[in-house]
Amino acid sequence: MKKVLVTYNMFREGFVEMESKYKVTYPEKKSFTYEEVLDLIPAYDVLCSMFNFPVTKELIDRGTKLQLIANYAVGYENIDVAYALEKGLTVANTPGPVTAPTANLALALLLDTARRVTEYDRKLRMKGQGLKVSLSENLGVAVEGRTLGIIGMGRIGKAFCKRAIACGMSVIYHNRRRLSLDEETKLGAAYVSFEELLEQADFVSLNAPSTKETYHLIGEGELKRMKPSAILVNTARGVLVDEHALVKALKEGVIWGAGLDVFEFGDHPLPGLLELDNVVMTPHIGTQTVTSRIEMAKAVSDNVVGFFEGDRPVARVLHP
Ligand code: GLV
Repeated sequence: MKKVLVTYNMFREGFVEMESKYKVTYPEKKSFTYEEVLDLIPAYDVLCSMFNFPVTKELIDRGTKLQLIANYAVGYENIDVAYALEKGLTVANTPGPVTAPTANLALALLLDTARRVTEYDRKLRMKGQGLKVSLSENLGVAVEGRTLGIIGMGRIGKAFCKRAIACGMSVIYHNRRRLSLDEETKLGAAYVSFEELLEQADFVSLNAPSTKETYHLIGEGELKRMKPSAILVNTARGVLVDEHALVKALKEGVIWGAGLDVFEFGDHPLPGLLELDNVVMTPHIGTQTVTSRIEMAKAVSDNVVGFFEGDRPVARVLHP
């Protein structure tokens, strides 16, 4: 019987089928430590990793029986994918169930920042009684009739595009690979260069993966290219943005605001961000809903079952 090691003990509802077919091991507590997995891995055919669990060369080398690494996330920068593929392993991720919730959060962060929802909520609570709002001050920004620029037109970018159009925005995008004309027409999005996007967009959304090429994609120079009225939304990965440069730009009015679900230094937004009213932040909650969490586990289980039984597609990661 195939043996599957899961580094976390959560969302078991999603693993029912996998448990019925293979011998599955979970930690007794919430997660295994790296050292525990290092000890256990030689006996396992599959490793189901969480997105913050490092799957290193060392771990891959210890997994002498290992055939599949099934990650719980669409992102996979926690895995040394180049090495895993070189060793002949299959790496799989969960793009399907993360698409809608992440696109929804991107829209939520954009609307919240533009309409100052959290800022007013905070002020109302601090006041402790009715807050008198000046009709001519602290105004928000309308999104309808404005242009959203999407950097990274993969599944999440496309899902956000549809939502933005439903809200009355027009969409331009930049991507490593331009979409076909047919796809562009169906989506209603126009391809532009990276520089054109920064200059033309009223709102810029990052929906690209974390790679060597996207590290600090948005730094001081790029922020300066954006409109002073622009809002930056990041639901992708924190390292895409030079956060020190962003704090400075938000403080100095180089751009108008930002909605951020991810931060350059993991769980810790720079203290400068915490002091600003023109930024809305959430702690990496793109897929933090009951249904998404379970559907992601089901997608991991489908990847494992599909790999061994060949009865359904496996979401394979084809390159680092
Ligand atoms: C979440 O951030 C994911 O990569 O799925």
